[in-house]
Amino acid sequence: MHPKLIPPETKGHVSVARLARFWYVACQSGELGSKPLARSVVGVPLVLFRGPGGAASALLDRCPHRNVPLSLGSVVGQGTLECAYHGWQFRGDGRCTRIPGLLETETRERRVPSAAVQERDGLVWVYPELDTMPESSPFELPPAGTNYARVVREVQADGSLHATIENALDVPHTAFLHRGLFRGGKQSEILATVRRSADRVEVQYDGEPRPSGIAGRVLSPGGGIVEHWDRFMLPSIAQVEYRLGKDVHFRVTSFCTPESDFRTRMYAVAEFHTRFPGRMVSRILEPFALRIFGQDADILRAQADNIRRFGGEQYASTELDFLGPHIWRLLKQAEAGELGGEPVVERTVRFLA
Ligand code: FES
Ligand SMILES: [Fe+2]
Repeated sequence: MHPKLIPPETKGHVSVARLARFWYVACQSGELGSKPLARSVVGVPLVLFRGPGGAASALLDRCPHRNVPLSLGSVVGQGTLECAYHGWQFRGDGRCTRIPGLLETETRERRVPSAAVQERDGLVWVYPELDTMPESSPFELPPAGTNYARVVREVQADGSLHATIENALDVPHTAFLHRGLFRGGKQSEILATVRRSADRVEVQYDGEPRPSGIAGRVLSPGGGIVEHWDRFMLPSIAQVEYRLGKDVHFRVTSFCTPESDFRTRMYAVAEFHTRFPGRMVSRILEPFALRIFGQDADILRAQADNIRRFGGEQYASTELDFLGPHIWRLLKQAEAGELGGEPVVERTVRFLA
């Protein structure tokens, strides 16, 4: 007879997918100055620095000599990374160009594995599969339109990529976890249409009431129809889009970077157009957004801690979990390299929110 396990036995499944053959945001352009910057992407420790002409580079954060983190070093000369321990120097492509004190001419090539880097729109993207020439390009955000304000904010969550993205796109928790801050007034019946295709899944909501409270007055002073979409795009993009009446349009695109299995960094790019100046709108909305995110971060940490405590997940989903199961399916397919084989799936669900 087996002894009874306390806590009860859980099958050891956790919704963690490791997609290395995709582009992720490693940092904002402004964060990468004259010093090297340490970042982990999909569990790969990287050091980022600017080489000749300011071009961003990323190397594995481990000196090949004695395995000290290269991020402890400094950028010297025209943009060479110098290790803090014995001063070996490395170019942006990882090639070692100098070993201080060595008199013999070295014939052997020594190098650090490197990651492809692209910088655009104020974000530095990396491809964590090392020493690879990617066939794809980083996600390009189509222009939101003319006269849009743009605000970029970075937050971190102690949750897996899947849990963090599900949370960012999950409507039913908002009236509960964020009661009083966001939704939570009189409930209305809403129609959700879920569509999944090869690399994304989207929910469109019809019948949503306009937001209440001060946020609602700023966002939709004139009332009108509310249109709302939540989207996930592989490998790690969560996008929320609202149109309120004719004048107001919000699009928040969160580029999520799994640093490790249970740590996710998010770069949220908010683009919006309202009747009021962008700066005023962000001054009013940002404290709300940060409080809401703080509640989400707390619950994500508690969720991840509990999953680890029980040694795995045991999820019970209903139709209201519109996106989580689809996101997981897309992540698993991408991890297995099996994308694009399935037909488009569409279904509608009525619910109260
Ligand atoms: S450990 Fe880097 S130079 Fe020795
Ligand atoms: Fe939330």
